[in-house]
Amino acid sequence: MIGYLGVDTDYSLKGKTAIITGGTAGIGYSTAKFFAEKGVNLVLVGRNPKADEIAKGLGASHIGLSGDVRSAEYRKTVIERAALAFGGADILINSAGISALDKAELISEEMWDSVIDVNLKGSFMMSQTFGKYLIDNKRPGSIVNLASQAGVVALDNHVAYCASKGGVIAMTKVLALEWGKYGIRVNAVSPTVVLTEMGHKAWDGPVGDAFKKEIPAERFAEPDEIAGIIGFLCSGNAAMITGHNLIIDGGYTIK
Ligand SMILES: NC(=O)c1ccc[n+]([C@@H]2O[C@H](COP(=O)([O-])OP(=O)(O)OC[C@H]3O[C@@H](n4cnc5c(N)ncnc54)[C@H](O)[C@@H]3O)[C@@H](O)[C@H]2O)c1
Repeated sequence: MIGYLGVDTDYSLKGKTAIITGGTAGIGYSTAKFFAEKGVNLVLVGRNPKADEIAKGLGASHIGLSGDVRSAEYRKTVIERAALAFGGADILINSAGISALDKAELISEEMWDSVIDVNLKGSFMMSQTFGKYLIDNKRPGSIVNLASQAGVVALDNHVAYCASKGGVIAMTKVLALEWGKYGIRVNAVSPTVVLTEMGHKAWDGPVGDAFKKEIPAERFAEPDEIAGIIGFLCSGNAAMITGHNLIIDGGYTIK
């Protein structure tokens, strides 16, 4: 349906093409499922060697490309393959991410580098490759970056992770500022703990149980809850939303 000022108000994403990094698992995979149901063509990006099989599980026409977002050659290939398979791409979801837990006085340089490299640099370089493609081809587009409540408030044992996600929120705002004139919207979502492999690894047990009690909603999030919100941010209903960090935390950060 076309509503106020010609804006598509029925959350339609049909016929769009989305590249989802980290799309083979967790929040990225839930977003892929959501998009597939809405008729979006998918390019799933992840380190899992079965990326293509996982993509085909959501529909024969989707593609999965196994690789690492830290590789410039791979990032270029992702855009080229999207163009070849679907005539281009409209949406980028940066969901590839890792966490590493240690006290600030103990965390190794190697651990710090790997978290910043994947979460911050990987998301930026993927956005740069995609943004340049859109600008060069005069296409509008939408990027959603997975930040975290950890980019907004301090979490014990999470110094590198918090720094990377704070960086993702800042980077999101700059890209929105610079690329608005090209019709490219860039937003972030900042979930609380989400019950994926990463969420379980970091928060299963007594520390997580105590943390849950600090959340007004008294629970962690399911990956499918995050997927629909990412879908909304990519839809025409969100045409005036850019540079925003949408916090999905059951109220944790209001205190
Ligand atoms: N789970 C949570 O509690 C939570 C909360 C807030 C934010 N986040 C963020 O959401 C995003 C997704 O998290 P998740 O819980 O789905 O994680 P997950 O571990 O379930 O999945 C992560 C995905 O990223 C991919 N990946 C990791 N490093 C990569 C690399 N270098 N190149 C390509 N792919 C790579 C993995 O293959 C996997 O598909 C991350 O950025 C994470 O920081 C997660």
